[in-house]
Amino acid sequence: MADRVQAPFGTRRARVIAHDRHGTYTVLRCVDPLGPRPQAGQFYMLRSAQRWGGGDGQRPYLPRAFSVLRAPAGGAELQFLIEDVGPGTARLCELRAGDELSLLGPLGIGFTPPRERRRALLVGGGVGIAPLAIWQDQLDGSATVLLGFRDAAHAPGAELLPGARVATDDGCAGHHGLVTELLDSELDHARHAEVYACGPPPMLEAVRALCAARDVPAQLALESGMACGFGACFGCVVPTTDGYVRVCVDGPVIDASRLQTALTSGAGH
Ligand SMILES: Cc1cc2nc3c(=O)[nH]c(=O)nc-3n(C[C@H](O)[C@H](O)[C@H](O)COP(=O)(O)OP(=O)(O)OC[C@H]3O[C@@H](n4cnc5c(N)ncnc54)[C@H](O)[C@@H]3O)c2cc1C
Ligand code: FES
Repeated sequence: MADRVQAPFGTRRARVIAHDRHGTYTVLRCVDPLGPRPQAGQFYMLRSAQRWGGGDGQRPYLPRAFSVLRAPAGGAELQFLIEDVGPGTARLCELRAGDELSLLGPLGIGFTPPRERRRALLVGGGVGIAPLAIWQDQLDGSATVLLGFRDAAHAPGAELLPGARVATDDGCAGHHGLVTELLDSELDHARHAEVYACGPPPMLEAVRALCAARDVPAQLALESGMACGFGACFGCVVPTTDGYVRVCVDGPVIDASRLQTALTSGAGH
């Protein structure tokens, strides 16, 4: 198991320095001078410091989980990739330079380096590309990157991982089809690989099955509904071959060999 970087106790403020758009996605850049630097695959619980909750039905109430997209070396900047799918992400997408985030993190266990000098193969779907960008940075750009998106509104997300091969469901960019089709042909001639994947559960399950069939190791960054992010609520448990685990403290990155399926209830968007 990877050594984890521990979050300092309690939430802290981080100033937003930029809000960038890549198609439908928002990248929020902020500075976190008091926090430790995160590992690739770790995540933060985020909420806006002002105007969080209090609207219709008091939503959003709890903070929301976000993978760290990038943490440029030698500074205090953190970047997050956000897709507006509900009240929490909508509020975060409103933030502009000068606004403040309240954050807790870095949390969870991230990716570990390829074993047996294997070649890293990164596979992302939709907003699941986020933890792969920081992993691509930490692997010094040596990884092969395959990304899948739904349509033209989402495909600009590929700009965030230089050199990526792209698949789109509607054929608007790159391969017309699923990113797992790209993975399938890549594994035909690159079996000495280790796969790192994050995306919607059907994509993760296809990655798990493809890798299991070829005996290729894989590390999957899972999602689960999270209320606390630090192990207290047991809201995020998923079944593994050695029992139920909490995705927030035992993951979110879980070795595929520990899963009978990545189609766990409550996971994904
Ligand atoms: C470890 C981790 C990392 C994540 N990283 C990112 C990231 O980098 N970028 C990003 O945009 N999102 C990320 N998410 C997902 C994000 O936390 C959720 O989508 C969040 O709930 C959105 O909040 P909301 O208030 O906008 O929408 P909600 O009201 O919470 O949900 C909106 C819609 O999405 C569905 N939904 C949302 N989250 C989940 C879930 N986890 N399981 C099942 N259904 C769900 C809901 O059923 C609803 O239909 C991550 C989640 C986890 C657990
Ligand atoms: S989110 Fe509370 S235990 Fe995992």
